[in-house]
Parts: sequence; C-alpha cells; structure tokens
Amino acid sequence: MHLLSMFLAGIGVVNALENGLARTPQLGWNTWNSFACSMNETVILDAAKKIVSLGFKDLGYNYIVLDDCWSAGRNSSGYLIPDAQKFPNGISDVADKIHALGLKIGIYSSAGTLTCARYAGSLGHEEKDAAVWASWGVSSEFNLLLDILVVGLLIHVQIDYLKYDNCYNQGEEGTPKLSYDRYNAMGKALNDTGRPILYSLCNWGSDGPWNFAPTIANSWRTSGDLSNVWDKEDVNCPCAELDGLDCKLPGYHCSIMNVVNKAVYYPSKAYAGAWNDLDMLQVGNGGLTDDEATSHFSLWAALKSPLLMTNVLNKIDEPTISILQNTAVLAVSQDPTGSSAIRMWRHYVDDGEIQMYSGPLSGGDQIVLLLNGGSSARDMNATLTDIFWANGPKGTASQVRSAWDVYDLWGGRMSNATAQGIIQGESSTRPIDMPKLGGASKVYSQVPLPASKALMGTKVGSVKASGTVKAHVRPHGVAMLRLRAQKSNDEL
Ligand code: GLA
Repeated sequence: MHLLSMFLAGIGVVNALENGLARTPQLGWNTWNSFACSMNETVILDAAKKIVSLGFKDLGYNYIVLDDCWSAGRNSSGYLIPDAQKFPNGISDVADKIHALGLKIGIYSSAGTLTCARYAGSLGHEEKDAAVWASWGVSSEFNLLLDILVVGLLIHVQIDYLKYDNCYNQGEEGTPKLSYDRYNAMGKALNDTGRPILYSLCNWGSDGPWNFAPTIANSWRTSGDLSNVWDKEDVNCPCAELDGLDCKLPGYHCSIMNVVNKAVYYPSKAYAGAWNDLDMLQVGNGGLTDDEATSHFSLWAALKSPLLMTNVLNKIDEPTISILQNTAVLAVSQDPTGSSAIRMWRHYVDDGEIQMYSGPLSGGDQIVLLLNGGSSARDMNATLTDIFWANGPKGTASQVRSAWDVYDLWGGRMSNATAQGIIQGESSTRPIDMPKLGGASKVYSQVPLPASKALMGTKVGSVKASGTVKAHVRPHGVAMLRLRAQKSNDEL
C-alpha cells in the first residue's frame, strides 16, 4: 500500500466518491481557448486578479484552471516538473498567489502517455502525479522521502482541481470498463492524497462517461471540443446527435447546437457532485452574436454544465460582462436542486429548429427555456402541460392546475453603462453585493430565491392554470423564464 494512503487511512480521511466538491456545477476560468500553449505565469495571475477586481469571484467563479502546456516533462525521479520559462517561480508560487486571492487552482493532464498538445501524460504515473500536484513545493528530487514530505506539507494548500484529458490513451478505450479503469486509476490517486481535488474528466463522451463516471468524477465532458460557432457542420466534429452516444471520433470545432443536441439525451445523469460538462464557455471569444452568446450561457446554465470562462479578461467588453455576470442565470446554474433542464420538445421550422426546455428549481419554481434556433425572430409558446410533462403526462401534473408568475431572467440584464463602471473598477456599480449578503453560494441557495431584479430578472406576466407561456424570441436567441407559483388561485 502507498505510504501516504496508509497514513491517511489511519487518520480517517474521507474516501473517494463523496469528495464533497462541485455540489453545484463548478465556475471559473481556463487558459485554453484564448491562450493555448502561450499560457504562462503572467497570463494566469493577470486573469486571477481580474476575476477578483471585475467581481467574478464574488459571483462564485473561483477556479483558475491551467490547461495543457504547463510542464517540461519529468525529472530523473519521474515527477512532473513545470516549464521554468513559463513558470520562473514554479507552479507552487502561482498556487500560493491564487490562493491568496481567495481563489482555487486547477491543473491539467491526460490519461494517456502524452497530453493532447504532446506534453508528458499521466498514464501509468497516476500516484506520483497526484502526489506532486497535492504537494507542490516539495523538492521531488528526494524521491524516497516524498511520501513523508507530502504528508507533512498537506496543510500547505496546493492544487484543487484536475482536468484529465483522453489523448494518447494507448487504445485503452472502446468499452466503458477500459475507460473507467483508466480514469479510476487517477481518481484513486487523487483521493489517496487526502486533499479534496475536484476531478473533471475530459474524455469527450467516449464510452459514455455519463454511465461510468458519476461515481468517480465530479464532471465529465460529453462531446468534442466546442468552437465559437453557433451552428455549422464541420468535418473535424463528425458525430452528430445520436451518434454522440457512441462517438468514435469526438473531435473539435463542434458548434454550440451540435453539442447541445448531443447533451439533451442524458440530463438525468447530472446531480450534485456529478455533472455533464458541455465544454468551456466561448462567451467573449468572438464568433458569436450577442444573442448566440446569451443563448449559449443560458443553455449551459440550465443544463448544469460547469461554467468555465475562457475569454481574455484584460480585454473584456461590456456585453460580455453583462452575460457572464447575469446572476439570475447563475442562480439557475447554482440552484440547490441540482437538476438539469430537459428538452421537452423540438420542432423543425423553415429556417432551423425550435426547442423548449423545462426543469425544476428549488422552492417549487420551474425553469423554462424557449430556444429559437431559426434565423428569424418568432413568437414562441409552451403550454403548462408540456412544461410539467415530466411531473405527469397530458396535463395530469398538479402544477398544471396552478397559476404562475413569469420572470424573464434576461429582463434585468445590466446596462452597458453599469458594465463599463465595472470594467473601470467602480465596484459600487455592481448590481448585487454578494459579500454583504453572505457570499454567492449562500445567496444562490436561498429558498425561495428573493424576487429581486438581480436574482429573478423582471416579472413579465403570469399564466393561468392550464395556460400557455408566450415569448418573442430573436434569431438564435432564447427566452429564459422562471415560473413561480402564485400564492392562491384566487389571484387569477
Ligand atoms: C483537448 C481538450 C481541450 C484542451 C486541449 C488541450 O482537446 O478537449 O479542452 O484541454 O485538449 O490540448
């Protein structure tokens, strides 16, 4: 048995699957989409400072994840070492600085011999790599003493999150068991460190991680890499829709609609501590219209995907701030019920397709999302019968007999002037003072959620028992609505 495991078993460290993390989908920022292999200490610490100064941290965005390209291979003892040019002060120094800002740090590797950008991978090195991440700051040249030193240094906090990719896996996939074993090896190694490390599996939906990963990981990627394109076929993302359930080449350049139309099949697999990951956000990276970026963010929140920003925060513009900082939408992502919305229907129209999603929120509220995938604006509607179909088909659900108030979660979107104030560092312009209210997680978990503009948007109407919710939806846009039962039917 690993020396460290023996020690930790002796002091009763919590085991495994219940690592207590990601009770709601993780929020944060990742280096990859904007910086790829140009990532370095400066880029990362600049982003971390901006997460704080722009108020993202207060809203719950707390993980700063270093993606691929951080390492310089292994030292003579077999331990991974950081690239000294990118990290002249080491990654433990970056970790310390990120922690000093009240944030958490994530690292990346692959369950293969190489990472996707062909840096050293972790297959066969799981224990050493997990130990070194949990203990960074130890001189790993003292190979024989490492386990003991790690135990001694556990109080010096280090890595909080691992994104674990799937490249160069030596063909150890093709059945759920092969993938499970490969990912479970790292899951066990992470648990053996005794340090709670959020485990974010990135195998692009191969072998159906929604079936095998929930007991070993906190989230799992559902499909190939998301591009900043709304809806386009791309030869690099060959699997469509149902192919996504058993895709042999998940690829990259997957459009937002492609990824969503694959993810709709397994909403029930998501629950507290275990989430479908539709990939990192492309909001603010160019390529999407304002409506498309708004829809992307809304869908990811309603489907309970982790929300990892990837935009350049030093250059953030006002519309990007007002999307990523919409606390009414973040409250849906972070709702304590932890249920993903379900696609209740889909219809093809002349210029695309339209869809309706619905799901439960805490306190008996309901999220309704009308998605207009078409290229022209249209009036859309959803009956209470369809909205509550999962609670009882054909209008048999008790909720259908209630009257509901309807709140537009984008109705309270902050103005460009407010966002401009945030960019200029005027924290007083922020629409909601989370620290004063006890912190983001406390605010989002209130039941019922207060009907403030910041948390529920604006009330746009009501719907009678057995009635229909209506909205005008722009091209590639959404209406994201929160329904709250009226207190009594007398109010009708
Ligand atoms: C894969 C992952 C991406 C990113 C790159 C890094 O493509 O899916 O999210 O981590 O590797 O090389």
